[in-house]
Amino acid sequence: RTIRREDYTPPPYFVEHADLGFELGDPVTRVEARLTLRRNPALPPGPLVLDGQELGLKRVAVDGRELAPHEYTLTEDHLDLGILPERCTVETSVEIRPGENTSLEGLYLSSGNFCTQCEAEGFRKITFYPDRPDVMARFSTTLSADPARYPVLLSNGNPVARGELPDGRHFVTWEDPFPKPCYLFALVAGNLVSLEDTFTTAGGREVKLEIWVEPRNAEKCGHAMHSLKQAMAWDERVFGREYDLDIYMIVAVDDFNMGAMENKGLNVFNSKYVLAQPETATDEDYEGIEAVIAHEYFHNWSGNRVTCRDWFQLSLKEGFTVFRDQQFTADMTSRAVKRIKDVNLLRTFQFREDGGPLAHPVRPDAYQEINNFYTLTVYEKGAEVVRMLHTLLGPEGFRRGTDRYFERFDGQAVTCDDFVQALEEATGRDLSRFRRWYSQAGTPVLGVSGHHDPRARTYTLTVTQHTPPTPGQPDKLPLHIPFALGLVGPDGVDLPLRLAGEAEAVAGTRVLELTEAEHAFVFEAIGTTPVPSLLRGYSAPVRLRYDYSDAELAFLMAHDTDEFNRWDAGQRLAERVITRLMADYRDGRPLRLDEGLLAAYRKLLEDPGADRRLLAQALMLPSEAYLAEQSDAIDPEAIHNAREFLRHALAQELRPILLESYHAHRDPDYRVSPEAIGRRRLKNVCLGYLMALHDETIQALCMTQYREADNMTDAMAALAALAQVDIPGRIEALAHFHGRWRDDPLVMDKWLALQATSSLPGTLEEVKRLTRHPAFNLRNPNKVRALIGAFASGNPVRFHDPSGAGYLFLADRVLELDPLNPQVAARLLTPLTQWRRYEPGRRALMAGELKRVLATPQLSKDVYEIASKALGEG
Ligand code: ARG
Ligand code: ZN
Repeated sequence: RTIRREDYTPPPYFVEHADLGFELGDPVTRVEARLTLRRNPALPPGPLVLDGQELGLKRVAVDGRELAPHEYTLTEDHLDLGILPERCTVETSVEIRPGENTSLEGLYLSSGNFCTQCEAEGFRKITFYPDRPDVMARFSTTLSADPARYPVLLSNGNPVARGELPDGRHFVTWEDPFPKPCYLFALVAGNLVSLEDTFTTAGGREVKLEIWVEPRNAEKCGHAMHSLKQAMAWDERVFGREYDLDIYMIVAVDDFNMGAMENKGLNVFNSKYVLAQPETATDEDYEGIEAVIAHEYFHNWSGNRVTCRDWFQLSLKEGFTVFRDQQFTADMTSRAVKRIKDVNLLRTFQFREDGGPLAHPVRPDAYQEINNFYTLTVYEKGAEVVRMLHTLLGPEGFRRGTDRYFERFDGQAVTCDDFVQALEEATGRDLSRFRRWYSQAGTPVLGVSGHHDPRARTYTLTVTQHTPPTPGQPDKLPLHIPFALGLVGPDGVDLPLRLAGEAEAVAGTRVLELTEAEHAFVFEAIGTTPVPSLLRGYSAPVRLRYDYSDAELAFLMAHDTDEFNRWDAGQRLAERVITRLMADYRDGRPLRLDEGLLAAYRKLLEDPGADRRLLAQALMLPSEAYLAEQSDAIDPEAIHNAREFLRHALAQELRPILLESYHAHRDPDYRVSPEAIGRRRLKNVCLGYLMALHDETIQALCMTQYREADNMTDAMAALAALAQVDIPGRIEALAHFHGRWRDDPLVMDKWLALQATSSLPGTLEEVKRLTRHPAFNLRNPNKVRALIGAFASGNPVRFHDPSGAGYLFLADRVLELDPLNPQVAARLLTPLTQWRRYEPGRRALMAGELKRVLATPQLSKDVYEIASKALGEG
């Protein structure tokens, strides 16, 4: 049952008003819906078919008259009421059982509190409704419940009435003045407390801000609130977007399938992205909270005021909103470090998706289960596509374009094409070829070569582009690519650049535009041979091929004015060194430390520069997952051993300066400025290297850091290093940590993940033991990700044990979870979809497990789609 983009047809009925009543109860909740409908005048009259799943239908009436069973058709997924009058009212009454809802989609319970998740198609598990984003209605919602168990009753919009009912229940009525698709509906009911604040918009609206959490978490909301206010001010400043209701609420719940959800005026969050205190959350956690709070807030315009016509357009809101949150974080922290993190994610995991059996365009053409398309391609590559538009149009042009987009489409459900068209209209640019980024899957490869002619004083850059085939798309067309570059002279200074025919030279970075399969650019007045610094700031999501020498990479690593490329040159150099070590390892040759890389790292440490976070980032070797993504016939063991050898050898040679740097960056007290965070980061990267030495003095130092840490960043850094070594101190520290934090679920997630990602040989057995530990719970997605997800995607050498035991374990867990939570089960399966990339032994074992999964009866369509496509049978 495949849904195709080309089959889109407009809705036969619109909902003008949705009046909902919830009698909340466990085990049974009753939902009354009164929908005011209008037939779509543009279409010939057709039947009204409402979506609905697992609903106990009690009553259905049209214009006040109850229908007899022969007057409608009820199936597993639909309620068909036949052709209805042009204007009419449909009332339904259903019973649902939120306490039995383990899928965490629709209405469910988390820690005994009611909450909802409706995107993409969860609303149909709440009531009968045209569950599609192009049906936008005004909602009013009345919640009633036992006041003792559910004192707080929240929904979208503004509260307009509250009181007590004769039977002792209490109620609150909420009205949302903005028409919205049902995927943005939300309700929350339970025993919660709130942190309150206010924000005054540029236009003078006073907005009440509330963050609702379980009472035990009351003290952990300060950072989320601060982030929200920063995000609101930033969106006004940078995009001219103001908030539009009198109240903005955020609720944190422990059981949540994804990160968070932008429901109108009532965001529901995974508690991981709200709760923080220095003792329980790391610097990374703080940054994650700031980013996700901003992301969901930004959706109020890019998603809610202007929404998607259909789910194929998901990147319209997600790609754009991720771009917006990336820009926000860059402004709040360090632009270069943020870019490096995002590019690492893209090149490690999105490239892998784009080169595998599940590759799909940013705007997919077909799906079986839409939940499987909340992907790195739709989100992260989608954000890169918007970033390229920003680069091509410039900040002012882009802003004119987004202003036009918001103005023109406010209150509507639109397409990716509408977005691009608004930018075209506002700037007069032709983006027809650029649109191919939305329709073509696969990662383009740029082949670049440079030639300097000293006599003619020209430098010629030849650039080719080619996108490899992906499933269903054998042939690709050239894309419109912004290609930012500089030419670095021997003294480390950017040469002024002038193309043939141009009057003036421009100093520094310039952006060339590629639109054809091949281009030659001739720069004039280039007297000395430069080193090209290509794709600066990572100006397009492509693989860049240029044949640098080691010396050129070391030169760029030391001198490039582009911070991103300085880092990238170091990564390329390290990757190259590790690749050579891998070959030596496989052929049984002795491993030797590369002198060039050692010198480059020594220089970094001796001359640390201002931004400590950037330095810390530069000192980090490419991850095993990244290295795997760069290889054919992946051998995880060779990657692990080559990389570990290098870490150890570097630590050995650099020991004194690493120790010195470690001590120099220890601060007497904990602070949260960017500077302090950078110092902590660098210190902990040094500690990580030193711990590779397996030296007792260093281990003692690490234990001391763990014991004395007054913040989670330092405690975790020490514990993570200890978790990798087989010493008694490891067991003690892990036990101590468990004893201290056993009652804090988010901290226990860290404890689980640390053990799951240890490269020690017994890790799989330990992970199996931990699945029976009270800290683990298969029904909680955070636990599943922390233990099983972290093992399968964060521990390549143990997951890919040549025996196949890791694969067997993962497939078993997927099959166990599938009947409970198909969405999370399908996601858990993704590491196995990469089977074709591995060396023959592992390839066969991985495919074997996928086949076993696929042959299992009663599979959810979520897991079925992933497994069948992975095997090339979808
Ligand atoms: N729109 C949410 C966000 O990106 C994600 C919700 C996705 N949920 C899902 N079940 N697929 O912020
Ligand atoms: Zn989003």
